[in-house]
Amino acid sequence: MTTLLEVSGVTVSFDGFRAINNLSFRISDAELRAVIGPNGAGKTTFMDIVTGKTRPDAGHILWGDKGLSLIGMSEARIAQAGIGRKFQKPTVFEEQTVQENLMMALRKDRRPLAVLFFKPSRSDFTRVDDLAEQIGLQEALLRVSGELSHGQKQWLEIGMLLAQEPQLLLVDEPAAGMTPAEREKTTAILVEAAKTRAVVVVEHDMEFVRRLNCKVTVLHEGSVLAEGSLDHVTKNQDVIDVYLGR
Ligand SMILES: Nc1ncnc2c1ncn2[C@@H]1O[C@H](COP(=O)(O)OP(=O)(O)OP(=O)(O)O)[C@@H](O)[C@H]1O
Ligand SMILES: [Mg+2]
Repeated sequence: MTTLLEVSGVTVSFDGFRAINNLSFRISDAELRAVIGPNGAGKTTFMDIVTGKTRPDAGHILWGDKGLSLIGMSEARIAQAGIGRKFQKPTVFEEQTVQENLMMALRKDRRPLAVLFFKPSRSDFTRVDDLAEQIGLQEALLRVSGELSHGQKQWLEIGMLLAQEPQLLLVDEPAAGMTPAEREKTTAILVEAAKTRAVVVVEHDMEFVRRLNCKVTVLHEGSVLAEGSLDHVTKNQDVIDVYLGR
């Protein structure tokens, strides 16, 4: 497997407090990775740095086989380069149907005139059907998104991100507020999505992480505390002390 994202020696301080402290790790092509760790460990800040929302004080972030440096690139350019991010709160257009939301997400050109004159082709409709199937919303295509359950809205947003065909998808606490059945389905969607791209999932729900069945990185005070299988990291005494044993 080749390295898709390489974070090395990254440090970020907020008013002198080091939220990320000499952080280094790698994500491979089409890898599924879980990131866990106590509140304030720097998990969300890590995603902010990779997506260009927060600029690190030191370190390198290299992307893709050409080793493109992401530091200093705008959020829009990083998204164009192939990194998609799902926030905790869904941001679907509530008045639009599932189909319309997915169709909108399919378009690469989001400039106002391009949006206004966009006529979906037959292949666009096929793509939307495929996406709806990937997120388990094929029966809900014509429903107004505002009427969907919280879980369904989250899946729709994942589908909208997949429509952009990111090479790396970052997902922050997808299971929050979901029913157990919705959580299970979310795991399945992410596992499937990670077959054709890399997916990094931050999650506190250990059952959820177990079902992802992937390599786990434990963050603590802005650095990697442990890495490996879930069984491996949950046996680590440092991990038990700072995270599991509380
Ligand atoms: N914009 C900011 N300004 C100041 N401090 C910040 C900012 N963003 C994050 N922090 C601080 O950085 C630390 C890491 O926060 P972060 O949100 O990355 O943690 P987290 O691991 O995502 O935690 P949680 O599990 O609670 O979501 C925290 O102490 C937080 O208060
Ligand atoms: Mg967070």
